[in-house]
Amino acid sequence: MSERNRVVERLDELGRIGRYEHGIDRPLASSQERQARALFASWARASEFSIAQDVVGNLFARRDGSDPTRKPILVGSHLDTVKTGGAYDGAYGVVGALCALELLQARGTATTHPIEAVAWAGEEGSRFPLGCLGSSVFTGLCAASYALDLTDEDGVTLRAALAAPQTGLLDLPLRANADVAGYLELHVEQGPILEDAGVVLGVVTAIAGQRRLRAIVDGVSGHAGTVPMAMRADALCAASELVLALERAAREQGDAVATVGRTIVEPNGTNVVPGRVTFSLDLRSPDDAKLDAIEAAFARAVEDVEKRRGVSIGIESFEKRPPTPMTPMLRDAIHRAIASLGQRALDVPSGAGHDAMSLGKVVPTAMLFVPSIGGRSHVTQERTADADLVLGVDALAAAIVQADATLSER
Ligand code: GLV
Ligand code: MN
Ligand code: MN
Repeated sequence: MSERNRVVERLDELGRIGRYEHGIDRPLASSQERQARALFASWARASEFSIAQDVVGNLFARRDGSDPTRKPILVGSHLDTVKTGGAYDGAYGVVGALCALELLQARGTATTHPIEAVAWAGEEGSRFPLGCLGSSVFTGLCAASYALDLTDEDGVTLRAALAAPQTGLLDLPLRANADVAGYLELHVEQGPILEDAGVVLGVVTAIAGQRRLRAIVDGVSGHAGTVPMAMRADALCAASELVLALERAAREQGDAVATVGRTIVEPNGTNVVPGRVTFSLDLRSPDDAKLDAIEAAFARAVEDVEKRRGVSIGIESFEKRPPTPMTPMLRDAIHRAIASLGQRALDVPSGAGHDAMSLGKVVPTAMLFVPSIGGRSHVTQERTADADLVLGVDALAAAIVQADATLSER
């Protein structure tokens, strides 16, 4: 396989794992996600990088640097997907990191720092209720025991899933967390800005703040034919008002988005008045104050709906991340790398969340984007042109060299 199309072929191979009619479904600690981890490990082994994992399933493929006293620079992303994922969200940054290390190896380019290609466990939070799970544990933002005790919808803990042979940890050395010197992440943009501008390489300025909450609306279930409209406490009608109130609050703020992407209606019967509705809230904005304002507006709507509709509503907040600016020193390093390839770069914000939010809390961190066709992601139509995937890896390899030099001066 030529160096140039290796990234494309590997993404094709990974993209077959978990594929079904609506995209790719590869949640953390599923048999599909374990297969993806094993494939990454086999590629890393074939390239003679040393490979290790930690207790939550993060994987690290290491190319040594020339100075054994240096902490590693990590370069990575994630292998898990949302339920209707595409082949690039996450996987591109993991495969791209490995391909970039192989490019440096093939060219005989030494770095001072060890460089590790990382596959972070469970970035999407689509099975266990915590986004950026692996990177949060790695950076100490979340205790490993807390993450391992999280349960999925069927009551299975992450601890149990990672202990099971079909879904669990790989047969690899287990390592404790180590200090790192810096972090780079390559990702598809998942939005339309680069494509609109006709520029292939984006340098991320900051990642939007994000919050995840859960609302539980309890009404009174009953017979759809006999309970008069005036006597109902229909949980779904109440939840519907709240969904629209959230939409209004985000629109009023501007430069903020809010999504109810998941609802569970109980008992979910055609001829039964809904007694309970549970729904998710996902809020994003580059400005934390706007997220505060949306939450406050939603809380007022909750109070109003409770009073008018005779339902009770509980709100649980389970994830809150402030906006994460990327580190100027590493953004500059990426710009120099892109210029060294004779390419144009565009500064872009990230509305999507990334493991770089966790790493950005503790070490110098920066991100590089390539375009998403039509700006689409988290859907089966997610695509990036092959040539752009290849150029992104070239840019990442150059960025590693620049970041290594920059961080060596510290
Ligand atoms: C991850 O893809 C997120 O932004 O939710
Ligand atoms: Mn991602
Ligand atoms: Mn995603």
